[in-house]
Amino acid sequence: MSVNKQLVLDSRPAEKVAPAHFRLVEAPMPKPGPGEILVRNHFLSLDPYMRSRLSDAKSYAKPQEIGAVMGGGTVGEVVESNNPRFKTGDFVVGMGGWQQYFVTDGAGFNVVDAKAIPLQAYLGVVGLPGVTAWYGLNKIIAPKPGETVVVSAASGAVGSVVGQLAKIAGAKVVGIAGGPEKCAYVRDELGFDACVDHKSPRFAEEMKAALPNGLDGLFENVGGEPFAQCLRRLNDFARLAICGLIASYEGAPTILPDMRIFLVRRIKIEGFIVADHLPLWPLALRELASQVASGRLRYRETVRQGLESAPQALVDLLQGGNFGKMLVKLV
Ligand SMILES: NC(=O)c1ccc[n+]([C@@H]2O[C@H](COP(=O)([O-])OP(=O)(O)OC[C@H]3O[C@@H](n4cnc5c(N)ncnc54)[C@H](OP(=O)(O)O)[C@@H]3O)[C@@H](O)[C@H]2O)c1
Repeated sequence: MSVNKQLVLDSRPAEKVAPAHFRLVEAPMPKPGPGEILVRNHFLSLDPYMRSRLSDAKSYAKPQEIGAVMGGGTVGEVVESNNPRFKTGDFVVGMGGWQQYFVTDGAGFNVVDAKAIPLQAYLGVVGLPGVTAWYGLNKIIAPKPGETVVVSAASGAVGSVVGQLAKIAGAKVVGIAGGPEKCAYVRDELGFDACVDHKSPRFAEEMKAALPNGLDGLFENVGGEPFAQCLRRLNDFARLAICGLIASYEGAPTILPDMRIFLVRRIKIEGFIVADHLPLWPLALRELASQVASGRLRYRETVRQGLESAPQALVDLLQGGNFGKMLVKLV
């Protein structure tokens, strides 16, 4: 193959992102130089943080450049290697971006074992979303047996791991998800004690019924109305891990609660970015991999086909069109 298809950012969305904000280009196939490897991407990871990178507003990470290949997590196969750390046929995970092939010196890329765990799981349950769940649950909420933990976007890549780890820790777990099908999966297949549908017209009453003793830990992925409902049910000394606010990534206002509750209930509230905690990743990944291997940690994926499907997959992810980890399969 002499051509390398890539998707570049063409313009910045003002509010909602659309496929028209990206452009497909055909570049010449890259050649690895001394110390470099050529990687063929097998799967692209679609993640909510990508929406924030499309904006040039000040954030914890640099914005995606216009005209550059869209950045993002990938797993792929080394097809040529001039680097002794990697051999042809190795599978590597890292930030390969929205393209079929790329060349790298290998910095930031790790070899993964595609026999032990399916390749694409290194972008989900044993990748960034899994470690995010592990960190926020264990290092911020730190649930004790018998406590109640709530997690929003509960059927998703991060939320599904949060709830299962909290159950393993002996907590009572209540999920919040969009629609009866996602809620049934969270309850019946992932083993949460309850799941409340945030699209239900009776959402507020159903939250109240699901939390008769309030909540001690909240893993917040969404913001908006689900967050507002949880703030009404905080127990004394509850811990709030603020992981994501996806309901406002495309411009909707974030909800500013009455601050008094944080004082009166003596609440600990901590926002976190998992990339700030790289030294803990190996430990988290070992624990997650062992739970997956033993069958205690289950996961689900939505897989779209072909590079061209990535922009629409991102649009759909931001609107709840995924069921589990959103991926694009290239090979
Ligand atoms: N802090 C960090 O380091 C870090 C790292 C990774 C991810 N995150 C954050 O973690 C959260 C989950 O990420 P993920 O990769 O696991 O995605 P995900 O949960 O697999 O997918 C996103 C889900 O968000 C829900 N959602 C979207 N818009 C919503 C809205 N307006 N109201 C309620 N729910 C909405 C949808 O689920 P329903 O259909 O169930 O509503 C959708 O399926 C995101 O906020 C992301 O930014 C943070």
